[in-house]
Amino acid sequence: MNDNLSSIIEKYLHEKGLSRDIAVTFEDVFIIDQNSDIPSRSSIKNTRLRMARDFFLNIPAVSANMDTVTESRMAVALARLGGIGFIHQFLPIERRVREVEKVKRADSGIIEHPFVIRPDATIREARDMMKNLQVSGLLVVDQGMGKLVGIITSRDIRFEDANEKKVAEIMTEMPLVTAPPGTGLEQARVILRKNKVEKLPLVDEEGRVAGLITAKDILKIEQYPLALRDQKGRLAVGATVGVSGDFAEDAAALANAGADIILIDTARGFSTRLKDAIRRLKSELGEDFPVVAGNVDTPEGALMLIDAGADAVKVGIGPGAVCKTREGPGVGTPQLTAVAECAAVAKERGIPVMADGGIRGGSDFCKALAAGASSVMMGYIFAGCEETPGEPFYEDGEKWKIYRGSASLEFQISRVDRDESEKLRAPEGVPRRVRYRGETKGAVDELMGALRSSMSYVGAWTLEEYRAKAKFRRQTVSGFEEGRPI
Ligand code: XMP
Repeated sequence: MNDNLSSIIEKYLHEKGLSRDIAVTFEDVFIIDQNSDIPSRSSIKNTRLRMARDFFLNIPAVSANMDTVTESRMAVALARLGGIGFIHQFLPIERRVREVEKVKRADSGIIEHPFVIRPDATIREARDMMKNLQVSGLLVVDQGMGKLVGIITSRDIRFEDANEKKVAEIMTEMPLVTAPPGTGLEQARVILRKNKVEKLPLVDEEGRVAGLITAKDILKIEQYPLALRDQKGRLAVGATVGVSGDFAEDAAALANAGADIILIDTARGFSTRLKDAIRRLKSELGEDFPVVAGNVDTPEGALMLIDAGADAVKVGIGPGAVCKTREGPGVGTPQLTAVAECAAVAKERGIPVMADGGIRGGSDFCKALAAGASSVMMGYIFAGCEETPGEPFYEDGEKWKIYRGSASLEFQISRVDRDESEKLRAPEGVPRRVRYRGETKGAVDELMGALRSSMSYVGAWTLEEYRAKAKFRRQTVSGFEEGRPI
């Protein structure tokens, strides 16, 4: 490391109350109380923060790209609250694309390409389509002319026993309440209310379908004011690729499906392979398409990824709740130091750092941001939530969900996209059960409550200010223990 870089890190750590001599993690430090003009935590309204070069989150929470954490349901839940989920990479590409599409269709404002069915299709087909696509209605379109001829909803077929009946026999026929393409959400709201209907197809002058607006989507938009949306008003979602095989084609397919940001993820991020992969993605997806890369845990690693073109760097080796990397290969910097040192150099280049792993509750979340992270990826915190993949189960009189490391033996064996010829690797992760904790909103409210409170102690009205002002002090184990309720 050159002297200049070394002094940048020294200076940053010194300002934060940390030292280069010893690497620390969350429990080793506390955040120092500062003079504050914030009357209460509820006065803090702005929790927006840059997650990648030109990509902002409304709350700095990210759900981990793990098979027991993020598929479309979790991504939808978190985007509604202002954060983002990264669809994991351990599904065949067609399924990953489908998960991205599901997020893009959830409370999307205006659905550009609504699902359609033919009038001569059967009720059985309509029912299957609605179930598989998770929608409550289909527009009926005459195949020859491509014109809207009616609409069929789950209510129409709920008690219909004659599965072989044709859609045309049971659908609500044209004329339906429709509106021309270009109708805005406010206008649509008025039309839907006046006509007491749930769905408003947008139809062009020739009678062809040009979109769909639903009452449910309009209500969702009002219900989630902080929701993270793309330019078309659809919920934002991230998607993940690895560094081998067809990763560049996969990334292009995910971006085409509407993914707003791509994460390129590998356990050993400080590698020529990841550097080359970032260069390739940036050149193939276009310079402006945001790419997050990781994981690294040193400033040298972070700088290499930034120089290769990463728009954000993901930091964390081995701090995770289901990680064994520290135990096995013995590699991995304690997470608070890793985040602070990477943030020190990334700040010089104007690139944000995402802290990944090791968060056990609100205070760790706050400390990761106070150390300089611009977003925080979490697995354990979200794993027990209703919206993660997998069913809850009862054991020892309590409700649980399964959470497992992406490098655990159990996961390697069960991978749906596993090539049978692939050898199993020595596990660097474990499976465990985590308490079921209800909806993601509860988990996020807890984190954000802690963060707003921490901001008010530090005297920071915005998260940029919080990252800049917050300082730590080391504490003893008994100091940490003192802070736990008896
Ligand atoms: P938390 O603590 O939030 O951490 O549960 C989530 C992060 O852990 C990483 N991860 C692993 N690390 N072996 C590891 O060493 C594994 O099997 C493994 N699975 C996940 C990953 O960075 C994730 O975001």
